[in-house]
Amino acid sequence: MAISPAWLVFCFLFLNHGVVELEASHQVYRDLKLSSSPPEHQPYRTSFHFQPPKNWINDPNGPMIYRGLYHLLYQYNTKGAIWGNIVWAHSTSTDLVNWTPHEPAIYPSQTSDINGCWSGSTTILPWGTPVILYTGIDPQNRQVQNMAVPKNLSDPYLREWVKSPKNPLMAPTAANQINASSFRDPTTAWLGPDGSWRLLVGSKRYSRGVAILYRSKDFFHWVKSQHPLHSAKGTGMWECPDFFPVLINSKLGVDTSTMGTDVKYVLKLSLDDTKHDYYTVGTYNINKDIYIPDKGQVDGDSGLRYDYGKFYASKTFFDSAKNRRILWGWINESSSVNDDIKKGWAGVQAIPRALWLDVSQKQLVQWPIREIEKLRGNEVHLPKQVLKGGLALEVSGVTASQADVEVSFGISELEKAEVLDPSWKNPQVLCSKKGALVDGSLGPFGVLALASKGMQEYTAVFFRIFKGHADKYVVLMCSDQSRSSLNNNNDKTTYGAFLNVDPVRKKVLSLRSLIDHSIVESFGGEGKVCITARVYPTLAIDDKAHLHVFNYGTQNVQITGLSAWSMKKARIY
Ligand code: FRU
Repeated sequence: MAISPAWLVFCFLFLNHGVVELEASHQVYRDLKLSSSPPEHQPYRTSFHFQPPKNWINDPNGPMIYRGLYHLLYQYNTKGAIWGNIVWAHSTSTDLVNWTPHEPAIYPSQTSDINGCWSGSTTILPWGTPVILYTGIDPQNRQVQNMAVPKNLSDPYLREWVKSPKNPLMAPTAANQINASSFRDPTTAWLGPDGSWRLLVGSKRYSRGVAILYRSKDFFHWVKSQHPLHSAKGTGMWECPDFFPVLINSKLGVDTSTMGTDVKYVLKLSLDDTKHDYYTVGTYNINKDIYIPDKGQVDGDSGLRYDYGKFYASKTFFDSAKNRRILWGWINESSSVNDDIKKGWAGVQAIPRALWLDVSQKQLVQWPIREIEKLRGNEVHLPKQVLKGGLALEVSGVTASQADVEVSFGISELEKAEVLDPSWKNPQVLCSKKGALVDGSLGPFGVLALASKGMQEYTAVFFRIFKGHADKYVVLMCSDQSRSSLNNNNDKTTYGAFLNVDPVRKKVLSLRSLIDHSIVESFGGEGKVCITARVYPTLAIDDKAHLHVFNYGTQNVQITGLSAWSMKKARIY
């Protein structure tokens, strides 16, 4: 049975509103003037990363595939390049690379969302109907959860959406004690064997991050569970939760309602306090409706991240056409708010990534969707060769400001690796201490992206190998932005992570970087660590950008293979 809008009209709102104290959760810039005429020369606009022609964007919302078309909806400011006036903008695609824009799908129009339409998800019901659940901001600025369904299911573009007159379906009340300023971003729902749907809403209680669980038999009446699916003290507000199964020993994805012994579960949370996306791998007990992270998995700031650079408020969906789970994430700016206003836009979506459980079952692996490779133009290939310590080698013949580069390094003489000081526990701090110009023994080696001719500017993405405890080797991956731009108004934080690859067994370390004018999106160890940098070179722009492979360690490494492609422009708007 499809849920018809006509049927919805006969539904009434029964929910009782308690008055709950509110705190501001999003910064509103009231005094800033919005630029009416952005500059013509726009060196930082991307060519194959998704972005609309102008204005602010943030979270990807409700991604899905419907009748063979991919839908990307996202938080969008209709009026300018800073956050505010949020609607769900909407584009569709047949290949996740080229996009057709449509009118906003969801915008304030009901009492329950009159002050904003914030993030949410799509659930495809068993008979194929997509349903959107999203957070609305009501007249008292309370966060409530609303529903919308397509007006016309035979329109594959799903251009028009009808909101339920029963909205809000979930609201903070005096009785349920939910903090009305910290109650948002409903997940895709999953169906249990008992016939009840479940979903999560992100929240916090004092400083404890909470994934509130709701259940429903009919998708309209949602009952809050006594206990959350999961919570963790000291982690602050959990934005944009995502909860999904991943197959053990397979790269294929599964539908969100899949249960069984051949899957593990992933709970991802976007921590408002740190603006990073963290996840744990664990088990889900459907009878008790609780999620327990596996031993060794850490909730919060020292846990695993999807990406150790700029990547936030991400969301996955199951691509039933290709049996894969795809991850979308928002790449926020590193520039000042004033610079964003001047350029007339802010925010980009990362290249969609396929994601699966690593064979170790301890972490996920991510890889750019294969379709992006059709933008690869001419290829430059470097044959196997030794890259002596202290050298940088230019990779010429590609458009270095718009490129895809894959390189693998062969390592020998591991015993010469620098010893890891046991106090070097934080990889990001270690990468900042040991930037690209600090020579080591085995490393730094990697790529210099968006480099200017005289090397005044570049973004360095590289590895270092250390000898750790009990003769175990530790691989560090860094993205050093400290020399990315001569403009010092930008945040040039260096990012880093430890890469779970054993160089004794593997002997080869691989790195792929997608370079797109102001983005260097990198995948180390075949997708075990991802780091996305947002950079704004002043010299290394367009055809003035260069690409190098480098080794500033004292030991030689081997380039076992390098391919770089000039990337064509995607059709995005
Ligand atoms: C995450 C977030 C969400 C919220 C939305 C508002 O970036 O803060 O929690 O729903 O953005 O735009």
